Amino acid sequence: MDDGGAQRFDDLSPQEVRVLGCLVEKEATVPDTYPMTLNALRTACNQSTSRDPVVSYGDREIEVALNSLRARGLTRVVHSTTNRATKYKHVLPETLELGKAETVLLSVLMLRGAQTPGELKTRSERQHRFKTPDDVVTVLERLAGRPEPLVRELPRQPGQKDPRWIHLMSPVAEPEVGAPVARAVAASSRPVPPDGVAGYATIAEFADLLAGDLWETVELVLLDVLAGLEPTSGPLVDVGAGTGVGLAAVHRAAPGLRVVAVEPSPAMRVALHARLVDAPELLAATTVVPTQLAQANLPDRAAAVLAVGVLGHLDDAERTKLWRYVSTSLRPGAPCVVSLVAPSRPAAIPSLRVGERQVGRNLVEGWTSAEPIDERSIAWTQRFRIADPNGLTLREANATVAWRCDGVDDLRAEIAPHSLELTEHEGGVVVVRRRG
Ligand SMILES: C[S@@+](CC[C@H](N)C(=O)[O-])C[C@H]1O[C@@H](n2cnc3c(N)ncnc32)[C@H](O)[C@@H]1O
Repeated sequence: MDDGGAQRFDDLSPQEVRVLGCLVEKEATVPDTYPMTLNALRTACNQSTSRDPVVSYGDREIEVALNSLRARGLTRVVHSTTNRATKYKHVLPETLELGKAETVLLSVLMLRGAQTPGELKTRSERQHRFKTPDDVVTVLERLAGRPEPLVRELPRQPGQKDPRWIHLMSPVAEPEVGAPVARAVAASSRPVPPDGVAGYATIAEFADLLAGDLWETVELVLLDVLAGLEPTSGPLVDVGAGTGVGLAAVHRAAPGLRVVAVEPSPAMRVALHARLVDAPELLAATTVVPTQLAQANLPDRAAAVLAVGVLGHLDDAERTKLWRYVSTSLRPGAPCVVSLVAPSRPAAIPSLRVGERQVGRNLVEGWTSAEPIDERSIAWTQRFRIADPNGLTLREANATVAWRCDGVDDLRAEIAPHSLELTEHEGGVVVVRRRG
């Protein structure tokens, strides 16, 4: 987006957010030792109280964050005349034109993630006294009403009395580290969290590394249902093809079948195209449609349809488009293979480690978690980390996307009006076909 050259502050790294939050906090709570040394900052960042998440950053990470914050005009270096120690201070109010109360609330959000006005009132007490939670809301609304909003109210969750607020200084606003709403989320005009495309921009680099073993199950089903398909009956349409992890399996199950891969995320398409370039037979057979299903111009006839790990991203109109397509463009008996993803009902899922991969000397790890948004959907968060051999975090990436939960019975009821029926297979895989 063209911002006319104005500097934006919505893409700070988790380390930059933590460092900035600590500088603001310690300026008010321990003014005697402010500005702060690198040592003091490391201790403040890694504090086990008043921090969410608790982290263990090393000096190098903090230095990198400080350098980048300084380059962006958010911190300054102060050279002490007494002991020649290098110290650091923030200049958040000057750079962002913030008042005291605004700066304090922003810092508490940066340090502790999504919080209600009541929590913010209590937790900011040592820095600034708000009389009531309503006073907190007034300041939050001011921050949210800026041309480039710095905070945002999250939609209230079922059973939740007060809404929670997040800061928008980073691409990973909070619920994600609970239900981290990617900045892309927050930046979007849609309700938080965002659709299924925006989040993949942040995490596409990890998609293949930690792809899991879902495709082993899907391939077994494909070997069965694609056997004997006539390549002349049309291509296989892969909705939400991602990085093309499954293309080789499709090819093994139905050699010679052409594929139309619908993939809207440019980041995922980078990996998809790289995969195609490496496999000349797939490159020749795969047509990439770079749009969401809603805008996709699909072939009149298809041999089969694939929707793996994508159904929950589709909105109602896209789902109707999908089922109509399966019902009118596939031959009777031709399969639409869908993988359903747990949970089948909105539920909170605490952070689960989904895998790790050694890449050279570094370790890449991934976690997933979820929080209910409403009676149909969850905010689904994926977190990744690259660590060096000493355990030092080199990179963290999070994304939260909205995901509609489906159970087999929901799906059966949804497809019935389109004269479709389904059969269940292992691992949440279902095959939808025209009713015979
Ligand atoms: C979890 S990934 C699954 C990728 C792939 N099917 C696989 O099994 O590896 C979901 C993919 O759906 C894509 N997606 C999200 N919303 C979509 C939409 N409305 N239409 C088509 N694809 C979408 C995302 O960009 C992402 O690549």
